[in-house]
Amino acid sequence: MTDSGDLDAAWLPSAAFRAVGSRRSLVRAGDGPPAETVYAELADACERFGGRVVRDGGDGDAELVLEPAGDDLGDDLGDEGFALTRRGGTTTVTASGERGLLYGLFHVVRLGEDAFRGERAREVHRPALATRMLDHWDNVAVHPVMGQVERGYAGGSLFWADGRARGDLDRVRAYGRLLAACGINAVAVNNVNVHETEARLLTDRIGEVAAIADVLRPYGIRTHLSVTFAAPMVLGGLPTADPLDGAVRDWWAEATGRVYEAIGDFGGYVVKADSEGQPGPFAYGRSHADGANVLAAALEPYGGTVHWRAFVYDHRQDWRDRTTDRARAAYDHFTPLDGEFAPNAVLQVKHGPMDFQVREPVSPLIGAMPRTRLAVEVQATQEYTGQQRHVCWLGPMWSEVLRFRPDGGVSAGRLADGLVAVSNVGDDPFWTGHPLAQANLYTFGRLAWDPAADPHAVLDEWIALTHPGAPARLADGLHAVLDGSWSTYEKYTAPLGVGFMVQPGHHYGPSVDGYEYSPWGTYHFADRDGVGVDRSAATGTGYAAQYADPWAKVYESPETCPDELLLFFHHVPYGHVLHSGKTVIQHIYDTHFEGVAEVEEARRVWAGLADLVDPARHARVAERYEEQLRSAREWRDQINSYFLRKSGVPDERGRTIH
Ligand code: GCU
Repeated sequence: MTDSGDLDAAWLPSAAFRAVGSRRSLVRAGDGPPAETVYAELADACERFGGRVVRDGGDGDAELVLEPAGDDLGDDLGDEGFALTRRGGTTTVTASGERGLLYGLFHVVRLGEDAFRGERAREVHRPALATRMLDHWDNVAVHPVMGQVERGYAGGSLFWADGRARGDLDRVRAYGRLLAACGINAVAVNNVNVHETEARLLTDRIGEVAAIADVLRPYGIRTHLSVTFAAPMVLGGLPTADPLDGAVRDWWAEATGRVYEAIGDFGGYVVKADSEGQPGPFAYGRSHADGANVLAAALEPYGGTVHWRAFVYDHRQDWRDRTTDRARAAYDHFTPLDGEFAPNAVLQVKHGPMDFQVREPVSPLIGAMPRTRLAVEVQATQEYTGQQRHVCWLGPMWSEVLRFRPDGGVSAGRLADGLVAVSNVGDDPFWTGHPLAQANLYTFGRLAWDPAADPHAVLDEWIALTHPGAPARLADGLHAVLDGSWSTYEKYTAPLGVGFMVQPGHHYGPSVDGYEYSPWGTYHFADRDGVGVDRSAATGTGYAAQYADPWAKVYESPETCPDELLLFFHHVPYGHVLHSGKTVIQHIYDTHFEGVAEVEEARRVWAGLADLVDPARHARVAERYEEQLRSAREWRDQINSYFLRKSGVPDERGRTIH
């Protein structure tokens, strides 16, 4: 199962290093941590595969050279980019910065033998997004309701155990290495809901964060911390956290100075304010720009950034009140503040307006604040997409978001400075609980590097790296069970973009009306005649009008709204005919039967790979397929029965509906 102890090698099995490890390499680089990593990686690989690596000295016969770019040649590379060339039997990676060399090395690893064939004209690779970050929703102390990792489906925390930072950070080191190999350069080590114990990481417990940062630094990763907006009160004993209060400003400046004494390259803060009960600037009648800017000012002298989350909405709304629409909230709160945020404040916007559902439109806030820095947040942890018991490869969903062009012009992926994922990793031996969920983490990193990349090609890259030399039957089988798994999941869960219908609280499994009469703003409004939320400007909540054209027009009318989002934007009768030619009710029945059939088929394909996959890994996935199938059938039967009973319209194919 593993290359080292109990750690799964994921996409860095030792065989992936055969091509670089069996050659003569030369590393010319400084002595910063990433350069040391490059050298150590090569030295390790050479020990295994019989190659040789030297540092600096002029070894004329090297087949692989990694070196700093000369002054005139590195202009197009940026801090993290690299150039790759191959001439006269030598493959050369040049970079302006050491992190570029690290990414260049992993690129050569991905290419394998191809990196050492023929000639290659100079190719430049540089990340499109400056920040490629994972947010861990990890608690230091086990939370009575949420446990150690909020919405975590892969065991305990990588970083924290027994109420403090782990003493043995080997697993964190291995994690950093995996992240560097897919291009991730930032990690936030604690939950955005900052509880009492975790608040103190900012002050007297910063040493524990520093220990983690030390282990991640050699992989080019900067460490970030989630902080509570009320820190000046809960930690500093001040009577207020008002961002315009001088003492509050001084407190943040001083506390931040101490953070940088401990962690010189600290990345900055992540803040969830005025959201689901977290404190924020509204308590003082201040705006979110005022709130973000006081933290930004404290970070600014050190080059740090505040990631300020836009997930602000009324979580105590009255379900009877049809005028309040949670989907509108982020746009309504933040667009008036465009231009008011400091240059080192980044607004972190969830990709959809609600909350990481299997299908949502792209948030209208993306692209609506041209004078504000933007990070797009996605959820690798599968809170609403099967909780890592179901296979649901999210590459195509994220790619759709990143390719979405809010006003028909520049894509979301190019408008953003950063892409952030809520991490799906814990201390599980397979990292992600479900071994196939590793594909989500890898795909996230690669799409953050290049949002225009074809996710299907990234999937194949992950398959090839994770299973070097895999026979076609294995590669094809893996591709078959992962590609399309998002669509399968969508088919057997909430239909046509309507969302939720999950069990309240833990969010696993179906409960069609679970949130229907709740204060959370997540309703489907099904009755005997129809279903869906009218978010049109003409007759509904007006949400559709938050988009720029062409989308405002497209979403406004059921005639032009894409089928998959129909119930997000419109309340329609069950007999409404979709662009597909089916009625809404028949679509619901058909997709739910199809979704289950697709899970049965994936389970069959997986069973057929038993001879090609390590037994422990195979068994883990096989066991999860049993649960996925059980759960998919539960979803199918609850949703179909619910809508049959509401509508009274029978399935035209006469299948069993309970
Ligand atoms: C969801 C999730 C919470 C999380 C929140 C957030 O609502 O269920 O656990 O805290 O998102 O993104 O802040």
